[in-house]
Amino acid sequence: MKIARFSKVGFILAAAGSAVGLGNIWKFPYITGEYGGGAFVLIYLITVLLIGFSIMIAEMLIGYLGRRDTVSSFEELAPRNKHLWKFGGFQALAGLFVMIYYSVVIGWIFNYIVSALSGLPSSVDEAKTVFTTMLHSDFKTQLFYHTASFMIITFVVARGIKGGIEKLNMVLMPMLFIIVGVMFLYATTLDGFHQAMEFMFKPDFSKINSTAFVTAVGHAFFTLSLGMGAIMTYSASLEKDQNIVKSSLIVVALDTGIALFAGLMLFTFLYQYGGEPSSGPGLVFISLPSVFYQMGVLGNVFAVMFFISLAFAGLTSAVSLTEPMVQYFIDRFSWSRLKSSIMMGLFFYLVGIIAILSHIDGFASYLTWGSRNFFDWVDFLTAAFMLPAGGLIMAVFVGYVLPKSQVEKVLRPQLGRAFGTWYFSLRYIAPIALVIVMLNLVGIL
Ligand code: PFF
Repeated sequence: MKIARFSKVGFILAAAGSAVGLGNIWKFPYITGEYGGGAFVLIYLITVLLIGFSIMIAEMLIGYLGRRDTVSSFEELAPRNKHLWKFGGFQALAGLFVMIYYSVVIGWIFNYIVSALSGLPSSVDEAKTVFTTMLHSDFKTQLFYHTASFMIITFVVARGIKGGIEKLNMVLMPMLFIIVGVMFLYATTLDGFHQAMEFMFKPDFSKINSTAFVTAVGHAFFTLSLGMGAIMTYSASLEKDQNIVKSSLIVVALDTGIALFAGLMLFTFLYQYGGEPSSGPGLVFISLPSVFYQMGVLGNVFAVMFFISLAFAGLTSAVSLTEPMVQYFIDRFSWSRLKSSIMMGLFFYLVGIIAILSHIDGFASYLTWGSRNFFDWVDFLTAAFMLPAGGLIMAVFVGYVLPKSQVEKVLRPQLGRAFGTWYFSLRYIAPIALVIVMLNLVGIL
């Protein structure tokens, strides 16, 4: 099966588009807020550098060598036990699971763009009422925008790597960088910026417990789009002479940069106008709109810009979450791209409706188990369990199963003397850290 190729810039923007997502602008700031700031950011940064970067290179390598959908790539590359290793490729399923709630959240964002055009809530209380009313009682609005999100994502994926995914990223990513850049620059002129810097970069380790640790590592994987076959699937369409290490480095740098910029900008606005940094998932949907209100007309413009940038970030990630399984059905079952895209889209669309219902009064109690409802369970299990598991499988596969000579042939020229360090981190540091995370998880559950 021949897969269309990305252009070089197209690949980098698409991989960065996958990495830079709701995780950076919505999730990162609120979990940083929840776990008290600096110490959490530090764990996250260390994980990104020590583990994330190594695994990113490994994931790109599998795609690059395998050149097929995730399942076939594992199967073909494994020197022995092919039928067992092919299950490694089913990490792509995690992407579809993430889409169950990701599409719903993109829907909320669409809704916020439209309502920010007409006006903003004048206080935190009002903003809270707006958000909770949408979340708990407005099934129709959520369904409407979830449908819109499903249609856009399915349409782009159905158009394929070149005509859909690459084009989307070539347009949206530069716009996203500009919007975040402009808003960040404005934030640096405000007094609240110093407080935001202190909050994010002054570690207070008393706030760190094992849940914080697991969350930070899980988030490092989530934000870099690792462990779900997204980067692997994109890399199957790499030009033969593209440099994997450089590409990984650029993607990791862009992703981390955007998370830190977005975090600093949000916390600056919050400190400047008296919002709460630890307000949870509602941070950008509750605290921020009322903060924008206080900025006057500029706030209105900023609110629309902000939610548009969030939508762009979300959409470019969503296509990468859907594409791996789409590719799988094309490659293994000879489905047409259109059929495959629609079927995968329908999966997350329909199950996504359950995710919406799990917040709606009257349904929520049936869809809640323990401390989490269906929506939160999907989020938690994918980010805290499936991604680290996917990462572990890749680390073991590239570190122990693929013949070293095959790995070295591609990466030695690109990594030079750093090859040994990378290989060591992949064989020892990453697996040990990932096993610790997963063991910890058992305790948390
Ligand atoms: N990296 C994306 C984000 O930060 O929102 C989410 C994501 C996309 C995770 C693709 C995993 C993935 F394979």
